Amino acid sequence: MRDVVVAANWKMHTTPADAGELARTIASRTREPGVTRVICPPYVCLAAVGAALADADPDVAVGAQNIHHELAGAFTGEIAAPMLEGLATWVIVGHSERRRDAAETDELIGRKLGRATDAGLRPILCVGEQLSERETGRATDVVDAQLRGALAGHDPVEMTAHGLVIAYEPVWAIGTGRNATGADAAAMAETIRASLSTLGWADGADVVPILYGGSVTSANIGAFLAEPSIDGALVGGASLKPDEMAGIVARAAITARARGLAG
Ligand code: PGA
Repeated sequence: MRDVVVAANWKMHTTPADAGELARTIASRTREPGVTRVICPPYVCLAAVGAALADADPDVAVGAQNIHHELAGAFTGEIAAPMLEGLATWVIVGHSERRRDAAETDELIGRKLGRATDAGLRPILCVGEQLSERETGRATDVVDAQLRGALAGHDPVEMTAHGLVIAYEPVWAIGTGRNATGADAAAMAETIRASLSTLGWADGADVVPILYGGSVTSANIGAFLAEPSIDGALVGGASLKPDEMAGIVARAAITARARGLAG
């Protein structure tokens, strides 16, 4: 059965002075068997969050929000995947805010994916369409093209062995308070698994966890997790609020129990 994953994307929030305490609080409020929890703080908070979680709850993993596509070199201000050793075990790749603000292309995102898995980081690959693309009926084509671009040249067996997770995040739903419906998310998850199948995953597409992201809250998470094809959430704004995280993970635990993951 696929993992049930709740990943917190703190984006450009928290400082090394307060991140550890927030992580500790979230960890203590989300102790539910069977749910894979990940917190992705800003780079400068990775050490503080890691130290707090090692003490409070080592079951909560730490992730980075990005990595560079090269291993080292003259790239001012950038962080390479091997530098995260001891600081993170997961990484978000291809978030729409980076596609938008750093002009990341599918080809570049594909290179980052390779750097992530080479460094032993579990990647969360983000895909998702713009509002205009959905309104003109192109959402599935856009997501299919993003997957093809990013996954080209990667060995499905190896990607799966490194625990590839895909997050479907419609861009119009991110940070807007306007979430997709559970049915929309489930339909896209089916599309994503169909794309993976044609990319060489074959039946293996069934084992890749697919998360929904975009204005997820404790109030709407149930609509997504009621869909058997959805395996969790990538949570932005609500992930900074312990009450919200407690509600989201509690709902995820129901799915984990139903899947027999809770031990
Ligand atoms: P949001 O962000 O939950 O604030 O919409 C989700 C994300 O960008 O991963």
